[in-house]
Amino acid sequence: MANNTSLVSISQYSKEKLLEILDKAAKFEKNPNRKILDGKVVATLFFEPSTRTRLSFETAANRLGARVIGFSDASTSSTSKGETLKDTITIVSNYADVIVMRHFIEGAARYASEVSRIPIVNAGDGANQHPTQTLLDLYSIKKTQGTLENLKIAMVGDLKYGRTVHSLINAMSHFNPSFKFISPKVLELPTSYKMFCKEKNIPFEEYSELNEEVIADADILYMTRVQKERFTDLFEYEKVKNVYVLTNKLLENTKDNLKILHPLPRVGEIACEVDENPKAYYFQQAQNGLYARQAVICDVLGVDVD
Ligand code: CP
Repeated sequence: MANNTSLVSISQYSKEKLLEILDKAAKFEKNPNRKILDGKVVATLFFEPSTRTRLSFETAANRLGARVIGFSDASTSSTSKGETLKDTITIVSNYADVIVMRHFIEGAARYASEVSRIPIVNAGDGANQHPTQTLLDLYSIKKTQGTLENLKIAMVGDLKYGRTVHSLINAMSHFNPSFKFISPKVLELPTSYKMFCKEKNIPFEEYSELNEEVIADADILYMTRVQKERFTDLFEYEKVKNVYVLTNKLLENTKDNLKILHPLPRVGEIACEVDENPKAYYFQQAQNGLYARQAVICDVLGVDVD
């Protein structure tokens, strides 16, 4: 049953494949309106809330001439009557050509890809992976820095549950990065990702404080939200929810080429005054998601961009 064009984890993609997708995304940025998916149906199944991922996927499909079906709230689907994920995927794969799925369970996308007749695109599975976010992050990094190679990347916030952080570490490993991981102790990067860096000889340092010194040499400052929905003990969330707030003052001595990325949504970890700072790039980053996701849909469907 499994099909091998599903995008479940960014670690499936070689360096060459990542660069190929970014090249395709650049073509879509030049012209996002191409009717190359006429007659195709894209299903978006979101078992967890989303603004950017779902709407950029649906815009991507619409601008390519495909039709979109799906749900943004699983409580309106027969999941609420007890239907299994396997049955849901089996049914939808009889209707659509590709399924874009977000799910709160880690590994749900892989499981779906194993029971589906059509490609699955992982739009985020719990705290595990968010591969299409990584593709738009890579696109944004390359566009702003002119390269993906040899960059200093500071990652800040919820590094434990942050699936965008996990996917980005995997992907950047092809490009000789060095990392600074800045998080409260309870949200530090899982050991498996630190082991991954060690095995790949990727230098990293860990900090618990966000200050001018720690970000002074960064090319990319990757901010993340402390995710309330991942905590089982809300007292623990209260202790760390406002631990970091990026302000213009903190950015005063950063490098000229620094860009601030954030997968969004933010809930206070970037002060609104930073939005006007030329180093802020998170809104353009979200826009780049449209082009990256157009590239992904075409890739998994085997449709030539040109
Ligand atoms: N970055 C991201 O996944 O945003 P949404 O949760 O709004 O889709």
